[in-house]
Amino acid sequence: MSLVREKTGKLHYFSDYSKFYYRSSWMVHFRSCGDGGGSGKYLDYNFIQFAKQLMKGLFMSDQVLELLPEINEIKAKHLREKVIACWAEAVEYRNWTNAELKSIPFTLLADNVKIHFIEHVRTCCKMAIACDKVLDDAYGSRKTAVNRDYLIAGSLLADVGKLFEFEKKADGTIIKSEYGKHIRHPFSGVGLAFKHGIPSEVMHIIAVHSKEGAGEKRSSEAIIFHHVDFIDFELVK
Ligand SMILES: [Fe+2]
Repeated sequence: MSLVREKTGKLHYFSDYSKFYYRSSWMVHFRSCGDGGGSGKYLDYNFIQFAKQLMKGLFMSDQVLELLPEINEIKAKHLREKVIACWAEAVEYRNWTNAELKSIPFTLLADNVKIHFIEHVRTCCKMAIACDKVLDDAYGSRKTAVNRDYLIAGSLLADVGKLFEFEKKADGTIIKSEYGKHIRHPFSGVGLAFKHGIPSEVMHIIAVHSKEGAGEKRSSEAIIFHHVDFIDFELVK
């Protein structure tokens, strides 16, 4: 058990979430496991479960932000939090660690791929922002409107469904899961996004970013993301 974070000098929690301690000014001390707690005061079970979830949420949020710092480019706090929530749930689905996530190949559709999945997600997001900035500089007020927050959120969520589509074997190799053979990531991504209240404009980017979106009328944000995604894919495959 190790200390992973301290906040405001008062809050301490541990990486296995199994125990945590809160020291208020009058030194109330409690333990979630109810093991006697020494000098501590045992608190209501529901409160402790709530607090454990809160701690877990903070831990997952840190893990996701470490993985995808571009989330911080989203200006709207509520959208930022929803994007984090989507990624946190997808990461938890197969208990991926950040080290594992950083080693997943970008695609299983080609051999000897040297680019990794997370690198691809981050790079496409950065390319999408760069495109939007170039268009801003070039055309100013004549530019077709692009919602930068939606563009970033969509870029970061387009492939989040791959964490359901992919599966890790005991030897560490990554394969397509049975689930993934039936539901490709644009569909699982939209399902996850819907659950977390992601705006429909962002779900649209997820839905039409890949071959499934061919023939659909894409929004300006979806056009930008679709193209940067395929630049990266076609240069790698
Ligand atoms: Fe994709």
